[in-house]
Amino acid sequence: MLMSNTPSLENYWMPFTANRQFKAAPRLLASAKGMYYTDVDGGQVLDGTAGLWCVNAGHGREKIADAVARQLVTMDYAPSFQMGHPLAFDFAEKLAARAPGGKKAGLTKVFFTGSGSESVDTALKIAIAYQRAIGQGTRTRVIGRERGYHGVGFGGISVGGLVNNRRVFPLLPGTDHIRHTHDPVRNSFVKGLPEHGADLADDLERLVALHGAETIAAVIVEPVAGSTGVLLPPKGYLERLRTISQKHGILLIFDEVITGFGRLGTPFAVDYFGVVPDLVTTAKGLTNGAVPMGAVFASETVHDALMHGPESQIELFHGYTYSGHPVACAAGLATLEVYEEEGLLTRAGEVAEHWQDALHSLKGLANVTDIRTIGLVAGIELASRPDAVGARGYDVFTDCFKNGLLVRVTGDIVALSPPLIVEKEQIDSIVSMLGDAIKNAA
Ligand SMILES: Cc1ncc(COP(=O)(O)O)c(C=O)c1O
Repeated sequence: MLMSNTPSLENYWMPFTANRQFKAAPRLLASAKGMYYTDVDGGQVLDGTAGLWCVNAGHGREKIADAVARQLVTMDYAPSFQMGHPLAFDFAEKLAARAPGGKKAGLTKVFFTGSGSESVDTALKIAIAYQRAIGQGTRTRVIGRERGYHGVGFGGISVGGLVNNRRVFPLLPGTDHIRHTHDPVRNSFVKGLPEHGADLADDLERLVALHGAETIAAVIVEPVAGSTGVLLPPKGYLERLRTISQKHGILLIFDEVITGFGRLGTPFAVDYFGVVPDLVTTAKGLTNGAVPMGAVFASETVHDALMHGPESQIELFHGYTYSGHPVACAAGLATLEVYEEEGLLTRAGEVAEHWQDALHSLKGLANVTDIRTIGLVAGIELASRPDAVGARGYDVFTDCFKNGLLVRVTGDIVALSPPLIVEKEQIDSIVSMLGDAIKNAA
């Protein structure tokens, strides 16, 4: 049912997609405005996922579009190495003024990248370079967490904890993982943070005992794991991880590619949990998804440790052609304005209770084994069909789409993360359409 002017589907090798299955029954979006996509057949699709967790202010924001258009004709590109342009400094300054944890957290040094994956690899490299700069050059090991997702660079998959992203590729030597915090037996259908599992942070002590603290540069976790099925940190867990990492001189990196820019109801997860890491990775909502861009917030301590040696010397041999891209900076600056004018960085907190209650009304439907919510995020875990992990989730996904709702699935876990402009009636529609799809997939 493709429109006649739809191009051939042969040549585009799609990312993270079952290409042959998709091309046999494609789902093609043509335009987007506010909370809705329109597909190529003219059908409206309610965006339950903010694209891929990135369109936090909703689609088609004119302020962002105008800023991008203006910048493209003012200066399309400027070299990022040994050259600068005012917009990148302006954007970094404005981000620093709103940095995770506020001014007192000191996460005010901003390194621009092109994506979440690049932010992760950048943060890992900064951590290792920092340790060397302070005379701890044996600390090259980076620790991730099982069921973590940190993008697709070799660094990111090495600290990531998703078997399908790892099994085919060689990984960085000298990585290890603490255990994940998902405990459906003790924590299912909990409203708010799980009660059980803070002690899982002690796993970092186990790895210190195994490898020696003097080999470990950093530990990276998502404060709320998103892509692997919306896993919330147990009460006290992140605080404990901070204490243990600090005790052993291990940098703590929060991957806020999903949680950054208002997703939890606070500007960053750092603000939500009140736990301050040494580095924070971001992307996605940084530009409302309009132009690819990422940013790493580094503490002044980490940054300043690298600002030594002869002043003619490049302090960090790292960077991208598109670091601080002028068009991305223009998009980001306009995005920040939209967030602020509309109070979007805290809006999720205002609707979180309605969101939570609406989602938890799905409890009791056949095959729903857990429901987790925080801010404007939800994970609905479904029982897998025998010998067909992911089949039920895929059916729910395609059924929702057919009926005009976009959701994400990871295996048999449905993830929701609508734009932060979502209205209560739209939340109710999301839950109603999802409920129908879950019943149809019984
Ligand atoms: C926590 C986290 N880190 C990193 C990434 C990678 O971001 P990108 O796809 O922009 O490379 C993602 C993407 O979903 C993510 O959720």
